[in-house]
Amino acid sequence: MAESMKGLRRTHRCGELSAANIGEQVTVMGWVQKQRNKGGIIFVDLRDRAGILQVIFEEADCGAEHFAKAERLRSEFVAAVTGRVEKRAGAVNANLATGEIEVRAESLRILSEAETPPFPVEENSRTKEELRLKYRYLDLRRPDLQRNLMLRSRMTAAVHAFLEEEGFLEVETPILNKSTPEGARDYLVPSRIHQGCFYALPQSPQIFKQLLMCSGYDRYFQIARCFRDEDLRADRQPEFTQIDLEMSFVDQEDVLDVTERMVAKVCKETVGLEVPLPLKRMTWDEAMNRFGSDKPDTRFDMELTDVSETVKGCGFGVFTGALEAGGSVRGINVKGQAEMPRKKIDALVEFAKGYGVKGLAYLAVLPDGSYKSSFAKFMTEEELKELVAAMAGEPGDLLLFAADKLKLVWSVLGALRVELARQLGMLDPNQYNFLWVTEFPQFEWSDEEERYVAMHHPFTMPMEEDLEILESDPGKVRAKAYDIVVNGMELGGGSVRIFQDDIQERMFQALGFTKEQAHEQFGFLIDAFKYGVPPHAGLAIGLERFVMLLAQTDNIRDVIAFPKIKDASCLMSEAPGTVDAKQLEELHLQVTE
Ligand code: AMO
Ligand code: AMP
Repeated sequence: MAESMKGLRRTHRCGELSAANIGEQVTVMGWVQKQRNKGGIIFVDLRDRAGILQVIFEEADCGAEHFAKAERLRSEFVAAVTGRVEKRAGAVNANLATGEIEVRAESLRILSEAETPPFPVEENSRTKEELRLKYRYLDLRRPDLQRNLMLRSRMTAAVHAFLEEEGFLEVETPILNKSTPEGARDYLVPSRIHQGCFYALPQSPQIFKQLLMCSGYDRYFQIARCFRDEDLRADRQPEFTQIDLEMSFVDQEDVLDVTERMVAKVCKETVGLEVPLPLKRMTWDEAMNRFGSDKPDTRFDMELTDVSETVKGCGFGVFTGALEAGGSVRGINVKGQAEMPRKKIDALVEFAKGYGVKGLAYLAVLPDGSYKSSFAKFMTEEELKELVAAMAGEPGDLLLFAADKLKLVWSVLGALRVELARQLGMLDPNQYNFLWVTEFPQFEWSDEEERYVAMHHPFTMPMEEDLEILESDPGKVRAKAYDIVVNGMELGGGSVRIFQDDIQERMFQALGFTKEQAHEQFGFLIDAFKYGVPPHAGLAIGLERFVMLLAQTDNIRDVIAFPKIKDASCLMSEAPGTVDAKQLEELHLQVTE
């Protein structure tokens, strides 16, 4: 039978006790990690979110009744113990914060019994994630997940404190909305009252925060829940949280400054990490050309080299063919890997093909200066020499080349470079290379829609010096858009917004919207801007990605209490689920086969 709390108060968390408490009488409560009965003496490890504490039961201290109860304790029972803190009699456990002490029990209450859990609740669990997600409430008892969620809480607290200090106001924006133009698929909620109408869950508070600027709130922030129905990856969830902010009467510099100081402060205050400011900056062009990525991992080199000029007239058809088709040939130099086994190189070729190129050409410069290559036979000795020189290749190096449309060459070599660094152990988890990527292209050509689409969103301001080519050469227009990037991950992004209606109109036109379409979609924002709008700019940081970084995990589910899996379902609650016919009827919905 479960006992109650009546008359009992917790004095400390288990993990909070230390040698400083020796001699005190304490009452602790928690879950039984382990019970070991050694005859006349029972050892119990009691666990709560602060840590694990050793409790000792002997009949001489706690009496026969309480000793008998201690004999019944099993893993995951919930218990309250009152006793005295003592110096540990046995070996000191250096692995535990409480390793120098133990509590000699005087009384015990069993607050709740527990069935044998489907997996042991322990740190660094080797239980499959599917099973742990099904019993997420048990999984969440594990110290590693508890540490992550406690870190997340400390991080949002630090964000609140910092932004408050900087004069930001926290304002909540609605969850039930009309569709926003962020680019991903919307989650829709059918309206009961308005037959055939749907709300969209926010992909971000973008429009509302811009409206708040119109309304004079001048510095806004929100820890905002966002919803995007997109294909999930390791760092994506269908619902996630942004640290979202917007500022009036500012330009790009102001947003970068506040953001980087916020990031540095949070890192320092929560995990003691020093982030040197100001952060490095790199234009999008430079990032793509050097690293093949708009979120470069700059912890290692292996940069891309453009060899298009060098191989222009060479005898290798794959290279010249790509160039004649308007593409590019670029390579990376994998230092010291010339002797990489053929099998491993083949695996890299397959990896590359996964990105859509037809192949990957390799040239190993062997220690004796001879070559091992997939294409050397198509080139003269002279051509090969020039190519190796262009790549700064030395004996012992492995050179990898991709030839295709530039965009594809960037993406495949960008990914390959990171994959190789991972395989070769070049990624230092304790190094944090933050940087800003700036001057993003304003537009991206969409083959699917056969038009330019906004790379960030339609309210992003082009760079002033590029305004004159907005119509004539849209592909070359750069935006006042910026991403904060760390170790190959996009942590956050934002932009300076358009606040002039003539520019906004030209933007809609460039994006292929008619006036009517623009009004239909963003009418209230366009209208609001007619009544006095301050220049404004902002950004949003992905909170989960920020926590992942400081928690040093590459699994986004490790920093979310109740996450979804790849197919956007929840293994514990089994959401999404079907609903009964009456509910559907009320919503004027019919499910088709
Ligand atoms: P953006 O779409 O770049 O910008 O999103 C900002 C940041 O949110 C995080 N993020 C995600 N995190 C987890 N799961 C997802 N599915 C997911 N999608 C995005 C990323 C990303 O950098 N309104 C603009 C911001 C602005 O212009 O102010 C916006 O939403 O870390
Ligand atoms: P093939 O002539 O198709 O046998 O290709 C010769 C070599 O070029 C092989 O090593 C291919 O993997 C490589 N290759 C094929 N297409 C490309 C490409 N687009 N870029 C780089 N290498 C390629």
